[in-house]
Formats: sequence, structure tokens, C-alpha cells
Amino acid sequence: MRVLVTGGSGQLARAIQTAWTGHELVLAGKSRLDLEDPEAIRAVVAELRPQAVLNLGACTQVDLCESEPELAMRVNGTAVGWLAEACRRQGALLVQISTDYVFDGLGSRPYREEDPTGPRSVYGRTKLAGEEQARLAPEHLIVRTAWLYDAQGRNFYRTMVDAAAQGRALRVVDDQRGTPTSCRALARQLHLALAEGWRGLVHVTCGGETTWHGFAAEIFRQRGIRASLSPCGTADYPRPAPRPAYSVLSGQRRALLGTDLMPSWEAALAEVVAADPDNL
Ligand SMILES: NC(=O)c1ccc[n+]([C@@H]2O[C@H](COP(=O)([O-])OP(=O)(O)OC[C@H]3O[C@@H](n4cnc5c(N)ncnc54)[C@H](OP(=O)(O)O)[C@@H]3O)[C@@H](O)[C@H]2O)c1
Repeated sequence: MRVLVTGGSGQLARAIQTAWTGHELVLAGKSRLDLEDPEAIRAVVAELRPQAVLNLGACTQVDLCESEPELAMRVNGTAVGWLAEACRRQGALLVQISTDYVFDGLGSRPYREEDPTGPRSVYGRTKLAGEEQARLAPEHLIVRTAWLYDAQGRNFYRTMVDAAAQGRALRVVDDQRGTPTSCRALARQLHLALAEGWRGLVHVTCGGETTWHGFAAEIFRQRGIRASLSPCGTADYPRPAPRPAYSVLSGQRRALLGTDLMPSWEAALAEVVAADPDNL
């Protein structure tokens, strides 16, 4: 299958490139395919004639989205409608990656796909708009995931390991719960989802749950790093965008749709740690 991947230089795109064998992948970074440019979207899809478009391009810096809401809406919301229209014309499947930020984060049991949304940040609102736009493609799969990281890229794992290497004392929030999800585990599940023909809306994260502090502690334990790490509360660390206090996503529908490959978050972390060139 020929698959056009937008946001081709991001961390999930890199993991897709490694994990997806047997497909002809065309990774298009912002310089080749700027999601703010509807004409470019139309032209690239018409030229490449992909069977699927995997939309990984997004404004992912949640604090920046608060100060640039129009930009965030164009990239995370409006552009998905342009992609959906291009996919409709081409008869292609649109795979849209969405986020736990579409929920209000006030829950206390894992969010199911049918639970009401209620985003509290610009990022969450614009990604929810992206979900609505993706539904305009006759063939679509919307995958909500959370807390993505890999050995490389702009993510929490990298931030913790690099900060510890600099000998910095770390205070990390211990009152936000979610599920760290490695890009490589998600990439493998997406590959299988395509093969098994998943459609509609599905939650895909690793198994289990923790806090950011719990995640940091496990990173340091698995890496054998003696870091100065202490817990703090969200209120101690004010940020422009509100973070969901609870954003664990239920995996029940995934298990109904097909084969559930997602490991526990601790096992997925062990795989990333083993593959991190820093750790060899
Ligand atoms: N990271 C997470 O924790 C997380 C959690 C849930 C869902 N997601 C979703 O998962 C997907 C992949 O995220 P990721 O973690 O791989 O993020 P990432 O590493 O930040 O990659 C996003 C990519 O989108 C590109 N991009 C930004 N504006 C663009 C535009 N106008 N046109 C084309 N490309 C543009 C970025 O390029 P520049 O860097 O050059 O701007 C970047 O390469 C996104 O849809 C994100 O919303 C992420």
C-alpha cells in the first residue's frame, strides 16, 4: 500500500518509518507538505495517489497553542478537513492521530471512546476539531493516544534523561495520571490496524497508568541513573495550557476491533531504553 505520511520529521513519523515494512511510505515534512496550504495538500495527494494518508503533522506544543490559537486551529483542525476531502477524491483511507486532551481530565476511570469530550486547552479543542474533520473522509480511522515518547525527539523521556545527565535536581508533577506510550509500540499497532482494516474511533495507548513523577522514577530506575527527583503538584508548576489531571484511555474497543499488541507502559519503556544509543 502507498501511504502518505504528513508531519514526516516528527517522532511518531520516525517510528513509523522503522516499523512499517511492506508499504511504500512517502514521508512529507512541513517543507514538502505544509498543512496550512490547501492547494499543496490537494496537489500532493493527486500526484502521489496514496491508498492511505497518515496525518501526523500537528501543532503539538500545547503551551504555544494557547498563544497561537488560530495557527493551531488551521493545522490541527481545518487542515484535516482538506486532507479528508483529498482522501475522498482519491478513495484513500485517512488515519488521523488524536489525543487524550479532547477530554476534560476530571474523570476517575479510563475514558472510553463514547465518553463525552470537553477539552480545556486550545490544543485539545483544535485536535477535537480535527477528529470532526477526519469523519468527512468516507474511509477513516481516528486513533487517540497519549504521552508519546521515544529515544529521540521532543518528549518527556528525552527531557528527563538529558536533565539528569546535566546533574539537575528535578521536581516532577505527581498529580496527573496517564499512560506513557512509546512511539514504536504505537507504530506497530497502527501497522496491524491497517492490515486488519480498523475503522472509526479507537483509543491506543500502552497498558497501565502512572503519574509523570512515576514515569520519571521508572525511567531512572530502568536506565540505572541516580537522579535527584522529587514530586510536586500541578499548582507548583503553572503552565499556559491546562493539563488533564486524569487522562487514562480505555483499551476495550481496541480489543474488540482486532489484535491488541500494546504492551504495558513499563515493558514499552524497557524496549526504548534498550534501543537508546545513549544507553549502549
Ligand atoms: N506527543 C504526544 O504526547 C502526543 C500525544 C497524543 C497525540 N499526539 C498526536 O500524535 C501526532 C504525532 O505527534 P508527535 O509526537 O510525533 O509530534 P512531533 O514530533 O511534534 O511531530 C509533529 C510534526 O508536525 C509538523 N508540523 C507542524 N506544523 C506543520 C504544518 N503546518 N504542516 C506540516 N507539518 C507540520 C512538525 O514540524 P516542525 O517540528 O517543523 O514544526 C513535526 O514534525 C500528532 O497528531 C499529535 O497531535 C501526540
